[in-house]
Amino acid sequence: MTILEADIAFAAQQLQSGNLVGLPTETVYGLAADARLDLAVAKIYATKGRPQFNPLIVHVSSVKQAQEYVNFNPLAKQLADAFWPGPLTMVLPRKEGCGISHLVSAGLNTLAVRVPNHPIALQLIRESGCPIAAPSANPSNQISPTTAQHVRDGFRGLDQPTTIIDGGPCQVGLESTVIAVAEDHVILLRPGGLSVESIQNICSLKLADKNSSIQSPGMLAKHYAPRHPLRLNVSHVEPNEVLLAFGEPLQAKYTLNLSVTGDIIEAAANLFAMLHQLDEYPCTSIAVMPIPSTGLGLAIQDRLNRAAVR
Ligand code: TXA
Ligand code: MG
Repeated sequence: MTILEADIAFAAQQLQSGNLVGLPTETVYGLAADARLDLAVAKIYATKGRPQFNPLIVHVSSVKQAQEYVNFNPLAKQLADAFWPGPLTMVLPRKEGCGISHLVSAGLNTLAVRVPNHPIALQLIRESGCPIAAPSANPSNQISPTTAQHVRDGFRGLDQPTTIIDGGPCQVGLESTVIAVAEDHVILLRPGGLSVESIQNICSLKLADKNSSIQSPGMLAKHYAPRHPLRLNVSHVEPNEVLLAFGEPLQAKYTLNLSVTGDIIEAAANLFAMLHQLDEYPCTSIAVMPIPSTGLGLAIQDRLNRAAVR
């Protein structure tokens, strides 16, 4: 076994154990976690220090694997055949029961997927058996890393990812192009490593605008919202309400607890899955206990505030 093979084997174990890995791709280094593990995904946000839950890209090793998680229309299949592996991310409808953490898609019913064009990334996905959620491996508001040293430097003095695989400098050096795929055209959500012209050789491309029905967080204001109204920062629960608790729960007919022990990372891991579950329960509204403003608490508050607007 070479040193690199040993690194990949170790990183695969780390992913399977719910830990984070600094991962080379052809675009930029990613901060990787098993996309099916709520808590591991929450660790990504905690480590990056993101004040908001932006949805993440799921990295897979083949079109076939992507089809386990999202629904492809014929155009999406054509684009995948043309540009994967490569710096193209497609936002597609999430398959129900696909097993990917709701935190990865920030509660939305779409999922961003791509097959990276990097031998180490592909081998790690195959060897670990994990679909990999990974944003760029930099603390929030810093430049995306294109070498392993950038990743180490970026997290210096902070919570470092357990393992960083050194795959040398990234060849593209720019994040992937993100598109939403409609029946007969695509919408550009983020320009990136694959040129717009290459995509236009296959189909027409529109720019995302404020009126577009497809959401690009950061660009548009659409976020996950439950069907039932939310009532935030409650100190008591009405008879027809269900409760989203944090810490010592209030009295209610039906309660899901983000974290009994008051652990904010565990709370983030549970947030979207529990909101989805509570939303299925017959009730007039969902009462939510106060969430502290520390660590991921701000991101949780942000999403709850947005979800409460109707
Ligand atoms: O090249 C890349 O794309 C790198 C490497 C690691 O793969 N990753 C990356 O991830 O740049 P991140 O998290 O920094 O950017 C993901 C982008 C964000 O703009 C996010 O809003 C968008 O993809 N995105 C993810 N899921 C989405 C969804 N369901 N709907 C709309 N936009 C989505
Ligand atoms: Mg980024």
